[in-house]
Amino acid sequence: MGWAGSSGVVAGSGFGWAVLVASYLLGNDLAQADARFDALARTYDVASKRVLTATEVGPGWRCWDVGGGDGRIGAWLAERVGADGSVLVTDIDPRWLRDIEDLPNVVSRRHDVVRDELPDGKFDLIHARLVLLHLPERHLVLDRLIGCLAPGGYLVVEDFDCERAPVLAAPRGSALVFEAVIGAFHGLLRERGADPAWGRSLATALGDHGLSRIVTDIFSVTWTGGSPGIDLHRVNVEQLADQLRASGISGRQLAEFRALLDDPAFAVRSYPLVSATGRRA
Ligand SMILES: C[S@@+](CC[C@H](N)C(=O)[O-])C[C@H]1O[C@@H](n2cnc3c(N)ncnc32)[C@H](O)[C@@H]1O
Repeated sequence: MGWAGSSGVVAGSGFGWAVLVASYLLGNDLAQADARFDALARTYDVASKRVLTATEVGPGWRCWDVGGGDGRIGAWLAERVGADGSVLVTDIDPRWLRDIEDLPNVVSRRHDVVRDELPDGKFDLIHARLVLLHLPERHLVLDRLIGCLAPGGYLVVEDFDCERAPVLAAPRGSALVFEAVIGAFHGLLRERGADPAWGRSLATALGDHGLSRIVTDIFSVTWTGGSPGIDLHRVNVEQLADQLRASGISGRQLAEFRALLDDPAFAVRSYPLVSATGRRA
């Protein structure tokens, strides 16, 4: 698999390098990133694997997982494509990709999908989960990724529609606290150019960018207080606690929010994951 170099690495952090992250709010440099990848995997890997399986990805395929996080989906793809296939896993901050570095058919790299030179070669399947939502340049990125597809190749983009995740059951009055904290979190995302509702635009966007045979899946479950998936809210809010306070959320609201996430009487719909698949002509 060919690879063109990338830019933006500065030596000297605890991991041997620090990374210039342009706009991503939930940087991988804090311990919460690992817990975030766990929470995402526990709820959403089943849906992502079903959608990827529907492409019939198999032996010999060349795949690229963009913004691969901790590399779990990359490792799963590597199993599917076997020794004759290859999987490139990239991330603007690849420190959590260490576990997949030894897999013989995987290449992992630091790479900014917005700015860096694109990899050589064409891919049969490109996958990006919960990456484009964060990037103000998401339409440019779609064009870049589509340009890297082989004829007939598949692009699978998965993103949340964060605005369709209502509270389903709450001890008296607590829905207001939950909504205030999560609303402030979504406000911080928007300030960075993220689009928390981007998931609902995916199918249209793939068509507008020239892909055909577009299929959309939507996956959502109920998260109750204390369930593993609800940790996604916990880690996001923990990581941004200072910024949330600066945006007007009080210490008391944050404490009530944390208590709700442990309360089995609390239930909220998980962020719906919208998975859109399209093919290059
Ligand atoms: C919410 S996480 C999702 C990780 C993984 N795809 C998953 O679903 O578990 C977003 C990932 O995108 C990466 N990312 C953010 N901006 C990026 C960029 N410009 N280029 C490549 N990766 C980026 C982050 O470092 C992070 O690992």
